Amino acid sequence: MKVQLKISNKPKDSCTIVFVSQGASKNSPPTVFSKDPDIKKTLLMGAEDKIFEGKQGEVYFFRNVNTGIAKHILAVGLGHLTKNGLEGVRRSVAMILRTLKSNHIEHAALRIGQNFPKSLSGATLTKAVAEAFVMSAYHFDELKSDKKEQKTFHIDIVFEGKSAGKALEEGLREGMIIGESVNFARRLGDMPGNLMTPSILAKETVHAAKGGKLKVTVWDLDKIKKEKMGCLAGVSAGSSEDARFIIMEYKGGAASKKPVCFVGKGLTFDSGGISIKPAPAMEEMKYDMCGGAATIATMLAISRLKLKINAIGIVPSSENMPGFSATKPGDIHFARNGKSVEVNNTDAEGRLILADALSYATELKPAFIVDSATLTGAMVIALGDLHTGFFTKNNKLAKKMQEAAEESGEMIWQLPLVDEHAEDMKGTYADLSNISSNKGAGSAHGAAFLEFFVDKDIPWAHVDIAGTAYHTGHRVSYNPKKGGSGVMVRTYVELAKLWS
Ligand code: BES
Ligand code: MN
Ligand code: ZN
Repeated sequence: MKVQLKISNKPKDSCTIVFVSQGASKNSPPTVFSKDPDIKKTLLMGAEDKIFEGKQGEVYFFRNVNTGIAKHILAVGLGHLTKNGLEGVRRSVAMILRTLKSNHIEHAALRIGQNFPKSLSGATLTKAVAEAFVMSAYHFDELKSDKKEQKTFHIDIVFEGKSAGKALEEGLREGMIIGESVNFARRLGDMPGNLMTPSILAKETVHAAKGGKLKVTVWDLDKIKKEKMGCLAGVSAGSSEDARFIIMEYKGGAASKKPVCFVGKGLTFDSGGISIKPAPAMEEMKYDMCGGAATIATMLAISRLKLKINAIGIVPSSENMPGFSATKPGDIHFARNGKSVEVNNTDAEGRLILADALSYATELKPAFIVDSATLTGAMVIALGDLHTGFFTKNNKLAKKMQEAAEESGEMIWQLPLVDEHAEDMKGTYADLSNISSNKGAGSAHGAAFLEFFVDKDIPWAHVDIAGTAYHTGHRVSYNPKKGGSGVMVRTYVELAKLWS
């Protein structure tokens, strides 16, 4: 579906959408976030009859009540507002679109602001609502021949609290840009491997950046080899699709200011290579470029939001295939920073392409580096599909990541990375091995390998999105049930803002 949002104080009300939060205790009535006494009365009566209590994600459609300003009322539960905060609002918004669709309502007015706690102020609340509407409207059917006509839902946002119109417009615009960026990342992931090769990923990036302030440079395989990126070239060797190295630069701050730097694994299909993966669910490995997609989408968002910072995005992109020139177990490649790497399992390829990208990022002396990757199956086992795991030895960066995630509503969890993990990554015939000599802690070992390619002085975090990059809609209502989630784009935009 499509959604069109605007701020309005004179909506054509046929359907009014009203948020309701649950009462503090079992017998206390819910809070209805509306100024209109008739709407309040109708919804409180609904609560008394126990047909609608305002639980998180609960919706109730009062058809033809013709009360006060509304013909129909759509009540949307927020649960306990203080506990769920803005993320609760986002998750409830997803339910709005679903309910409007099933009730064939295409025009509605969402009344917000009245009685909301201060922390959920005008622009912030409007931004969250806009993000959630745009994210919930995402659908991926461009490759189907019998596309159903997409209905457009027109939502007027009516702000009943105290807030300046200009700030609300700003919040709306920001939320829409962020939502659209998340959807951009999802689409890159949802495209199949044959239609989202490294060269196509690079072209899509160039295309999306056109007309804006984001400068995109793409290196082909010859250039990659000339630039001494032996690990990226080594992963690419088994495929007929050549690798690409995508560099995005945004200059919105003073020239003297160090850029923030995002790096993302852009592995467009991971068969495992010669250490081939088993067949079940191998098709999901088209999502192995979701770290790269998050990086590209974050850079696009930063430039569209015109943040007053400098930022660099780097995406090494390759297929991992078992073709006749493929890297064999035991082969040794040389990374850009001169370290030699024994490839003892060709399925641990993400860390190889990231090794060269992180070496390159280090040379740029950025303010921080945050890399994202669907790096390890072990992360799916450790944290599942709700929390994104991250590793860093830098306390300031860890704190900022947590703050950013709090702001974005995405759930992240720090996991340990210590020198012992690095010790386990030493090679027998080369400096390093791409798999650990020790059992367990597969995700930490992946992080420890990457650490060898980042200068100790640069704050660095590694974010493993293997469990959260796709198929998370049963957890988070505004994400697709099946498909890319666009995870971490929102947190990264907040992080970039926080750091400046
Ligand atoms: N892309 C995979 C990790 C992955 C697995 C992502 C499942 C999403 C879902 C990665 O390239 C990989 O194959 N990692 C190996 C590393 C191992 C060989 C050390 C893994 O996790 O099994
Ligand atoms: Mn792999
Ligand atoms: Zn992979």
